[in-house]
Amino acid sequence: MQSEMIRDDFAFFNHSDLVYLDSASTTQKPKSVLEAMDAYNTQYCANIHRSSHGLGNAATSKYETAREIIGKFLHVGDKSEIIFTKGVTEGINLVAQSYAKEHASCVIISALEHHSNILPWQQIKKPLHVIQTKENLTPDLEHFESLLAQNPNALVALIHTSNAFGITHPIKEMIALAHRYGAKVLIDAAQSASHMPINISDLDADFLVISGHKLYGPTGIGALYIKKDLHPLCNPYQVGGGAIMQVFYDHTEYLPIPYMYESGTPNIAGAIGFGAAIEYLQSVGYAYIAKHEQNIIAYALEQLSQIEDILFYTQVASMQSNISFNISNIHHHDLGILLDKQKVQVRVGHHCVQPTMRFLGIDGTVRVSVGIYTNKADIDQFIKALKRSIAMLKG
Ligand code: ALA
Repeated sequence: MQSEMIRDDFAFFNHSDLVYLDSASTTQKPKSVLEAMDAYNTQYCANIHRSSHGLGNAATSKYETAREIIGKFLHVGDKSEIIFTKGVTEGINLVAQSYAKEHASCVIISALEHHSNILPWQQIKKPLHVIQTKENLTPDLEHFESLLAQNPNALVALIHTSNAFGITHPIKEMIALAHRYGAKVLIDAAQSASHMPINISDLDADFLVISGHKLYGPTGIGALYIKKDLHPLCNPYQVGGGAIMQVFYDHTEYLPIPYMYESGTPNIAGAIGFGAAIEYLQSVGYAYIAKHEQNIIAYALEQLSQIEDILFYTQVASMQSNISFNISNIHHHDLGILLDKQKVQVRVGHHCVQPTMRFLGIDGTVRVSVGIYTNKADIDQFIKALKRSIAMLKG
């Protein structure tokens, strides 16, 4: 069975008896990713874009190949539109400091944004407008349009799939609407890219961020897409060696993007591992991923829905890659502790969306998130452990 073959690709499942239902926090890494990083560290470790010796050229070539793989994966027009970052948080900070600070009048966000898509805008002191939600946490598109109409030159910054509630924004429609009012749009695809294909050319996003570690790749590496037309408007950020063409004591001439944003020695092994992770994901294919994950989520939801006193915060059918819930009169942290004792790993708490939780009048939820390796046995063990925990806590 393909799902068992996929599980075999992950060393973690060979030695662990834990039920891992926290892939929205970070995914496990397949052996091909670890091997690609190991090969760099043991066979051709050298710095990139500096040393003209054979080893340096080999490392540079692999690093740039990873950029190409990620560019093709996201369907960008030109590989120079892909900048390596530490991850989504750094990507958003970069856009805030290098573009929005000078060119955006304000920032419009959804009501489901995580803290990394709020704090960078506060840091540059831009007015923040939040799109109201309708029932089930879906965005009120009429309110969105009124914000766009009232705020020329806004930057719209939207999470694609909510890390906390698993629902997916209609981003193609929202990007088109924003562009009609002259706004630029940043999409945070951290939670969606491992579950569905992202086609930047089709979406027409202006900026897009992803993190390697949520795509079966290493931690500490991510990618930021900046549309080529906007490159002339983007200022240097965290400058230093590697970003320059010529340095004088009174000024510097910078390399074009992406190199202007990759000063210092980057996470070379991480970028190569990220490229390997994308190749792995593509070898599994989104057709299989979507079908498998939807089956697993549906299987989990069917059983969860039968549990007495369960509380969901959005329409059950709209939760695609993760499920968020509470059990009335039981604290999610107590459930988290008891699930952990029964070897089930889920995330509990505010999931870095405190304003959304405040809006809902709660301080957190239990979140179950799946990946390509999750199987029905994982869900069975989780449901059994959950029922046992509820019985213990309700006495
Ligand atoms: N954003 C990650 C999560 O939702 C860390 O768990």
